[in-house]
Amino acid sequence: MSKNLIYMVAINHDSSEYKNTDYSQYSIKSWEYWCKRNNVDFMLVTEHDDRLGKPIWNKELIYERADGYDKIGVVDSDTMIKWDAPNIFEMYDDEFCGVLDNVNLKWVHDSLQVYGKFFDGINVDIDEYINAGVLFFTKKHLSLFKDILDFYLKNQEELDNWNKGGGKEQTILNYHLKKTDFKRKFLTPSWNLLGMHKKQMFTHNWQLNEDKTPFFVKYGFIWHFTGFGIPDRINLMKQTWELFEKHYDIDNIKYDKILDLTRHRDVEKSTTTRKFKKDILDTFLNDKFKDKVLVEIGCHKGNSTKYLSKIFKKVYAVDKWHLDKAKEHCKDCDNVEFVKANLYPYRKGDGSIQNAEDWGDFLPSNVDVVFIDAGHEYQQVKSDIENALKLWPNVSFIFDDYGLPPGEVKKAIDEHVEEGNLKISKFIGDSADDLISAANTKFIDMEGCICNLM
Ligand SMILES: C[S@@+](CC[C@H](N)C(=O)[O-])C[C@H]1O[C@@H](n2cnc3c(N)ncnc32)[C@H](O)[C@@H]1O
Repeated sequence: MSKNLIYMVAINHDSSEYKNTDYSQYSIKSWEYWCKRNNVDFMLVTEHDDRLGKPIWNKELIYERADGYDKIGVVDSDTMIKWDAPNIFEMYDDEFCGVLDNVNLKWVHDSLQVYGKFFDGINVDIDEYINAGVLFFTKKHLSLFKDILDFYLKNQEELDNWNKGGGKEQTILNYHLKKTDFKRKFLTPSWNLLGMHKKQMFTHNWQLNEDKTPFFVKYGFIWHFTGFGIPDRINLMKQTWELFEKHYDIDNIKYDKILDLTRHRDVEKSTTTRKFKKDILDTFLNDKFKDKVLVEIGCHKGNSTKYLSKIFKKVYAVDKWHLDKAKEHCKDCDNVEFVKANLYPYRKGDGSIQNAEDWGDFLPSNVDVVFIDAGHEYQQVKSDIENALKLWPNVSFIFDDYGLPPGEVKKAIDEHVEEGNLKISKFIGDSADDLISAANTKFIDMEGCICNLM
């Protein structure tokens, strides 16, 4: 297996009136999380090498610091990586990878002009000019950074006092890269989302009125907060962190890959929160339950079915509607059986009553855990509990929507607790204050509970 490294320079330095940490703190937390999740080492440089002028030249020192690594990424401290971005190191072989920087072509053109005097006879084309803030390459490319550092040291006085514009090391890197015979790979813009404000990426599709996720989060893997002043950068990175911080929970990394496979209550009305699902994983993802059978009463589009299938040996998912969507969402889960059934009596068009189907007719006798999440009226929940206890006297219960107003689910559960049929083992999911629901429902109690935990 290859050993890979992300290298970031984040130095507070008196050459800037702002502290780098004012914004890099968010960058660092995002990269730390992603590296841990993808088994990549993270090298953070916070000490300036006094041989150098501005902190940015510390990036070049990667050539002497990446010993023992196969693939390397150099990322600027004004970038953040999306929590579930794929492992980029698995997406290239031996190429030098970057994203074209074409946000401001005049700036690129002028920069190539002013630095061109150092690179006689070398022509970098505008459509091969990459942004230096996010680079991925291999150990065989490290010599490039030594060449750039040598170039800098040779021209240090001029470069440290440079007043002709055109940035600092990016154009120099592009000229040096052009001198090599490295095979190059231009990554899609999502791997270094530049000019986000110009592309209106901080907004969302308000016409749909259903998903308020900003475009940069939806369509980008690495967000580059550049092209505006540092106070704006600090603000935007801080806001981004505060909005999505919950996805970067290093302590729960072991669950995140599973939780990212499915949708949660903040964007999908008829499922549970991420926290609810996490609590289920925390309780059941272990040796004790890996050979057990779960029934989900009311599976809707399979948003819970999918992660439950990673916990239990077999999952039966019951619903009267939505099964096509649920099957599609769970098409890679080979231990799920979908069951179409009508769970409650209802009045037909001719006024007669259609009885509910008998659970024993469509569910097996060896069920260990039942997840009750279909009808939310008192009578419906009460009958679900009674049906389950009748068929499987020792079953453990998971209930969603304990605190759903006006309290019918809670009433049915509490009554059975009082009667001694159920014992609440723990409350799970979000509290009434924390719960964010796409349906805008204000809960009156905890989101869910587990009863009779075996
Ligand atoms: C809240 S959703 C289930 C969400 C799912 N458990 C999850 O976590 O993503 C409730 C489901 O119960 C189903 N349902 C309601 N009444 C039903 C009935 N009479 N028979 C079968 N399914 C029913 C609905 O079709 C709906 O898909």
